[in-house]
Amino acid sequence: MRILQVSAELFPLLKTGGLADVAGALPIALAAAGQEVRVLLPGFPAILAGVVDLAPVAELRAPRGDTSRLLFGRVQTTGAPDVPAYVIDAPALYDRPGNPYENADRQPYDDNHRRFALLGWAGAQLAQGLDTAWQPQVVHAHDWHAGLVPAYLAFAQRPAGPRVGSVFTVHNLAYQGVFAPWHFADLGLPGPAFQVNGLEYHGQLSFMKSGLYYADRLTTVSPTYAREIQTSEQGFGLDGLLRARNGVLTGILNAVDDQVWNPANDTLLADRFEARRMAGKALSKAALQRQLGLSELPDAPLFIVVSRLTEQKGLHLVLSGLDALLEQGGQLALLGGGDAWLEDAFRHRAVAMPQSVSVTIGYNESLAHQLFGAGDVTLVPSLFEPCGLTQMYGLKYGCLPLVRRVGGLADTVVDTTLEDMADGEATGFVFDRFEPGDYARAMRRAFALYRRPTDWKRVRATAMRRPVDWATAAAQYIAVYQQAIA
Ligand code: ADP
Ligand code: GLC
Repeated sequence: MRILQVSAELFPLLKTGGLADVAGALPIALAAAGQEVRVLLPGFPAILAGVVDLAPVAELRAPRGDTSRLLFGRVQTTGAPDVPAYVIDAPALYDRPGNPYENADRQPYDDNHRRFALLGWAGAQLAQGLDTAWQPQVVHAHDWHAGLVPAYLAFAQRPAGPRVGSVFTVHNLAYQGVFAPWHFADLGLPGPAFQVNGLEYHGQLSFMKSGLYYADRLTTVSPTYAREIQTSEQGFGLDGLLRARNGVLTGILNAVDDQVWNPANDTLLADRFEARRMAGKALSKAALQRQLGLSELPDAPLFIVVSRLTEQKGLHLVLSGLDALLEQGGQLALLGGGDAWLEDAFRHRAVAMPQSVSVTIGYNESLAHQLFGAGDVTLVPSLFEPCGLTQMYGLKYGCLPLVRRVGGLADTVVDTTLEDMADGEATGFVFDRFEPGDYARAMRRAFALYRRPTDWKRVRATAMRRPVDWATAAAQYIAVYQQAIA
């Protein structure tokens, strides 16, 4: 099958969160399963710099008449064939430093509707044969940034040739790409698109709703989240539409790219390790404690956080439980960036107790690997979590996840209850209610298990052996693509 994947980010070229990890790994897994995959990306500086052998393939004429160039090249990978990539070269829209969505003051760019309409437009044009050498059979659009692909396709004139299927994946319903109604004219869609049965959302334009309404098939990134977004609590106003379309909605759990995240050959760690050879983890812990200025105590359980610092991630629970964590002899190492109040609050705690609390504000791929390699417990107490990747990295690196039972966290971590330990299923610590008391009890369980080294090692080995490969997810996506074409 010929598949075109459309996304705003792609690891290792440009990443602000898990979307990039998925957009980078899925094409490789699909290619390994025998599919012919190409990706389409906006020409942000990091993408133009990272895609190799770029050459023009077509001129792209946007609905408002502006023209830009569509380039074609390759994304290099480690240990897999390169991924063919189209890039939209539109400097007026994309040539801006820093975050792809926001300016230096963390405000969304005023012309985001045009920047991402062009991404959707280019995806739909490729589906209609813009590149005479290659035409996809299915277009797979990710998140609101690519949400207009299915709308443009739904309204496209298709004289001859086979129908191209569209699949839209929700990575996070909290970010919807909602714009003022007067921008509708800029999109180049016909009037009927701006209706309740279309992309109109409470009088505004919603790129997310466009994807959800017009795509042939919908997916989201875990089975539990697929159910949650059909409820008013987690539907962000789109639950009605999602319930109406539930027959075409599938939850497909994300996985872990073994070429990027594998403690057995991760050169970013002080030493390598695997389930039956764990000395390297102790070494990595000592090295990281030294590097971060934490007391070099091998038996102090090291709790880590690698996260965007936003309300979604529930980090005020970590703050509220920090005294108890320290009183029980634990250490905390956090890496993250986001909301200023959270950055300040964590920084403040690190300044007060530098031997026990380390806080690194910013984005740092190497340190992220080192934290999973060194840590004992990965904290992910999210309010909501479509899938979550850091708990899976925690599992793989033997840094047991402590998570709230929500979204993909509920689908990937098994609590250390006595029965699940006896059955050899337990892999971490899970709590239910989003409140300090429940979080504190889960943390108590983590400390209690840590003081029983034989049990700790058994749970850790189970976590590290849990399969999280992309091949399973790729097979499920292929089934969805086939349905979209049928
Ligand atoms: P989300 O996409 O909601 O942010 P995920 O858990 O799916 O959450 O993915 C987050 C990804 O971003 C992971 O690969 C994680 O390691 C990475 N990440 C988050 N914050 C940082 C940071 N400050 N530095 C490096 N990597 C980070
Ligand atoms: C989103 C979600 C996260 C998910 C990621 C990749 O950013 O917040 O839970 O893992 O997308 O699908």
